[in-house]
Amino acid sequence: MISTPSPLPAAANTVDRFSREDWQRGYQTQPQETSYWVEDIQGEIPASLRGTLFRNGPGTLDVGGQRFHHPFDGDGMICAFTFIDGKVFFRNRYVRTPGFIAEQAAGKILYRGVFGTQRPGGPLANAFDLKLKNIANTGVHYWGERLLALWEAAEPFRLDPVSLDTLGPDHLDGLLSEGQPFSAHPRIDPGSPRTGGQRRFVNFGVKAGLSSAIALYEFHEDGSLAQEQTRTVPGFAFLHDFVLTENYYCFFQNPVKFNPLPFVFGLKGAGQCLAFDPKGKTQMLLIPRDPAQPMQTLETDSCFVFHHGNAFERVSDQGRPQLVVDSICYPSFPSVEPGADFMETNFEEVPPGQLFRFTAELEGGSVSREALSLRPCEFPSLHPAKVGQAARYYYIGVTDSPAANAPLQAILKQDLETGATQTWSAAPRGFISEPLFVPAPNSKADGEAEDEGWVLCLIYNAARHGSDLVILQAQSLTEVARIRLQQHIPYGLHGSFTAATFGVGD
Ligand code: CO
Repeated sequence: MISTPSPLPAAANTVDRFSREDWQRGYQTQPQETSYWVEDIQGEIPASLRGTLFRNGPGTLDVGGQRFHHPFDGDGMICAFTFIDGKVFFRNRYVRTPGFIAEQAAGKILYRGVFGTQRPGGPLANAFDLKLKNIANTGVHYWGERLLALWEAAEPFRLDPVSLDTLGPDHLDGLLSEGQPFSAHPRIDPGSPRTGGQRRFVNFGVKAGLSSAIALYEFHEDGSLAQEQTRTVPGFAFLHDFVLTENYYCFFQNPVKFNPLPFVFGLKGAGQCLAFDPKGKTQMLLIPRDPAQPMQTLETDSCFVFHHGNAFERVSDQGRPQLVVDSICYPSFPSVEPGADFMETNFEEVPPGQLFRFTAELEGGSVSREALSLRPCEFPSLHPAKVGQAARYYYIGVTDSPAANAPLQAILKQDLETGATQTWSAAPRGFISEPLFVPAPNSKADGEAEDEGWVLCLIYNAARHGSDLVILQAQSLTEVARIRLQQHIPYGLHGSFTAATFGVGD
């Protein structure tokens, strides 16, 4: 059992298999919006792969040549890949938020960004300007006949799923007020006795301050609200993601402090005012889905978590109820300094994300943790039917070399039962984004069949300054098709898959 994130194993003759110039070119703004049947395809798209992959991420990295300080400040651009009968239709469109429309019309940066983008003119031009631009750039989900572009600090934007046209901010039938946070990390509950076996879309929103209010929402398949509750926790809670089980929502409250003054005085972006406390404790917040039950807060050693893999409840061999959570832990918060240029990131100095398993004793309050993999990683994915249950396989973005931090260039399949791993790499000139597991139709998701399906991953291919959507057969983790787009898509954040095809090809 490893109790603290370990240093990476010593790199023996590690050769950088990527060039910084290649990696940097993936951060060029994509000004074009297009739609077409993709004809440049290597291999064969599986005929039984049917549905739409939506992806979101910053499509602009600058306005009129003025660069954003960090890619997370870029405007959301949605990509849709619709698969029908072995063919694929591609479309990309920007989310037309008021901020995007105003800045594109002005040809310059008008808003400050959470991650440090400042309006031109120095602190005087930025002080006391606390207006944030809702950039809708982090997640995208189709549920209850709504397609929503998500950004955690405010309400979602609704899009037309056929044209990707922006319909406007969506307050979910009056559930959200104007500007109210609604996270970019919903989880789809595959159904359990608690939900009568029905699927639910579960999401949260955090109002953080001296104490933080976490609102939790569950929606029925038709989009109507199933239940809602709010819990308050002491201190500033930076909560990007969560996990759920049949009975719990689980958050990790990272040991960070927030000092808003440099933001107010125009010196820093709000996201740059977070300070990691390495001596602090990470709080594990266990919130019962039953609003009548009290929540528990357990402590574990200091670490920083953006993303979780999954969670499940179990009874230990000694008969004790436990909650198990797998998360990607950083030894400290990868801060975004005002003077630093993200394009010049020295990867070897950046703390690596590593996959850890936390086991919480539900009656006794202690938490233990062990490393499942020390290879630098991000963006875990699993079979959607295994959300909230013990899953056998994860598919995770990793570095090409297991021993050095670097951009994500490979995909790791991890067998949690045997510890076996398989990797597929796009190195040296390919850079991956979040891999997404899509089950084969009628896959039973049990035992041997849990990896029946495909892993879809959008790759920036520097060799041709274009993006390729790669389809891997998940059992062998081998490439079966490569869909070569006519343009590049800047490195994105999160996506989702739906069986709907929205009339494409009819
Ligand atoms: Co995220």
